[in-house]
Amino acid sequence: MSLATVTVATEPPYPVRIGPAALEALPNAVASADRVALLADERVLDLHGASLAALGEVPTLAIGGGEDAKTLGKLGAVLEFLAAAGLARSSTLITFGGGTLADLGGLAASLFKRGMQVVHAPTTLLAQVDASVGGKTAINLSAGKNLAGTFHQPAEVLCDTSTLATLPAAERASGLGEVVKTALIGGEADLALLEAQADGLLAGDAAALAATVTSCVTVKARVVACDPTERGPRRGLNLGHTFAHAIEHVAGYGAVPHGVAVAAGIGLALRASAELGLLTDPALEARIRALLERLGLPADLSALRQSSGLALPVDELMAGFAHDKKGAVGRPEFVLVSGAGALELGVTLEVDLLQSLLA
Ligand SMILES: NC(=O)c1ccc[n+]([C@@H]2O[C@H](COP(=O)([O-])OP(=O)(O)OC[C@H]3O[C@@H](n4cnc5c(N)ncnc54)[C@H](O)[C@@H]3O)[C@@H](O)[C@H]2O)c1
Ligand SMILES: [Zn+2]
Repeated sequence: MSLATVTVATEPPYPVRIGPAALEALPNAVASADRVALLADERVLDLHGASLAALGEVPTLAIGGGEDAKTLGKLGAVLEFLAAAGLARSSTLITFGGGTLADLGGLAASLFKRGMQVVHAPTTLLAQVDASVGGKTAINLSAGKNLAGTFHQPAEVLCDTSTLATLPAAERASGLGEVVKTALIGGEADLALLEAQADGLLAGDAAALAATVTSCVTVKARVVACDPTERGPRRGLNLGHTFAHAIEHVAGYGAVPHGVAVAAGIGLALRASAELGLLTDPALEARIRALLERLGLPADLSALRQSSGLALPVDELMAGFAHDKKGAVGRPEFVLVSGAGALELGVTLEVDLLQSLLA
């Protein structure tokens, strides 16, 4: 299967190459760098390190994935590693792993010598469709997630879909939540494609994975190119996320995979949209619910409460909105939906409506 290429039209533009052998393009992606270093997820390096053989010997820092990668301590370790490896501004750092490695490596690359190039080789579905594209980087602080970061676009992104074969089920489910979000933001054609690919995706079919990642990256590239620093339309990518962040906060971070919380958040955003009479196509809500359920994702809070075994009490969820960094303090803002590909940004909801949604 040949590689699909999506161009992110930022200044300068960069390619995202997608397909089962995308890592073969890695030597070419770093050809102009005077030196190259690798920041890898140690588990991914064990499982898929052989796919990097064409790169030859490069200085490598292997660390664990997960949120533990996104700390000030790890950021310091990566910066010291880049210095010890003798890298310059004209060198390239490759990240090889999930979204946590891309966020950490992207931040380190933006800081090292005031900015060096980074090439992402994402290996989770979530990182391929979301985290590795768009240039947002971050680490967590004790006060909350993603509180310190920069915008630093990668020079190239290689989404090798064959690496997804070893993803644990929870990680795959997490990626699928973002996939549904992206297709709904993309519009009718993306949604119809995802519905057609759903069975293939669940079966790990190579063509279905490549087609889905390509469609999601195309949507994200379009949104990012018109709003690289998230001042306007890019906020639409937070569809489902105000609800998801409150759920994750109440559940305790890690208890519910992020994309699974996003799935429930999408269901809640659609319910709110229907309640407010925003939906131009009343069938959309049932259609998205059916798609989420087919993909094994919760379409509302009762499904999430049941599958997770968590109580997620209404009052705690209400208080949990205070931890969302997007809206102004005390006024959580939501992305609602009027149709496939049509969003309402920055909507505030009455307390009564919120409480009934979360019940
Ligand atoms: N920058 C952005 O725009 C953006 C967007 C969305 C999410 N994010 C961030 O991304 C992070 C989540 O990313 P993630 O879900 O990829 O998490 P992750 O990087 O922690 O990866 C999840 C787990 O999967 C393992 N793993 C990775 N690839 C694997 C493979 N191919 N086979 C087997 N195991 C594999 C990792 O070791 C880890 O345990 C969050 O910190 C989130 O804030 C950033
Ligand atoms: Zn997300």
